Amino acid sequence: MGNWKMNGSLQTNQALLGELRELYDRTCGSDLVVCVPAPYLAQTQQLLDGTPITWGGQDVSAHDKGAYTGEVSAAMLSEFGSRWALVGHSERRTLHGETDQVVADKALAALRGGLTPVVCVGESLQERDQGQVAEVIERQLKPVLALGDEAIARLVIAYEPVWAIGTGRSATPEQAREVHALIRKLVGDAGKNVPLLYGGSVKPDNAGELFAMDNIDGALVGGASLVATEFYAIAN
Ligand code: PGA
Repeated sequence: MGNWKMNGSLQTNQALLGELRELYDRTCGSDLVVCVPAPYLAQTQQLLDGTPITWGGQDVSAHDKGAYTGEVSAAMLSEFGSRWALVGHSERRTLHGETDQVVADKALAALRGGLTPVVCVGESLQERDQGQVAEVIERQLKPVLALGDEAIARLVIAYEPVWAIGTGRSATPEQAREVHALIRKLVGDAGKNVPLLYGGSVKPDNAGELFAMDNIDGALVGGASLVATEFYAIAN
């Protein structure tokens, strides 16, 4: 799953999606998803409709409609063919003050709108250094898990240690494995089939060792998803 963040233009998107479409080979066995800036959903739909590559938003409003200037609803994402919405990306949590409860509200709004929420969690470097990883992950997931078993079964969860995002410093496969095992335990029986993605400086040269770990079912890829050959190499 690629997270373009605030990158792209009509011209570069066309080139990137065109290349991805050409590279994508059903035999690669991975699902490819791109999460694009909202203004490019129509273009993405136009270029990817009928291909095996799916798309989604990078955020979604907790509300269904109304006086929420600047927000984009799940129904709006859906209307442009989105299947997914990232919620609680660390950049939303830190730069936009999203609380754990807001993230859960957004996940619920996504589900109401027929989207699969991709709930992002992860600790800061300071929290890791202070031995608080498990505590942080549990705290972040608590209101999401309170949505109940039916909701849990429909989630995707991405573990993205904040210190690994955009830094070129990925978590080690062992560090990621540990947290993924914890998340798998927290989602319980209801979430036994929930895909768990790792994110944070995933590149073609470290993807293999991460994906070899138990409970790492895929990746949420930022920088490398902007280069078709790199993104495809990770999926492949
Ligand atoms: P990165 O970003 O791959 O550039 O580290 C990951 C993300 O923020 O989802």
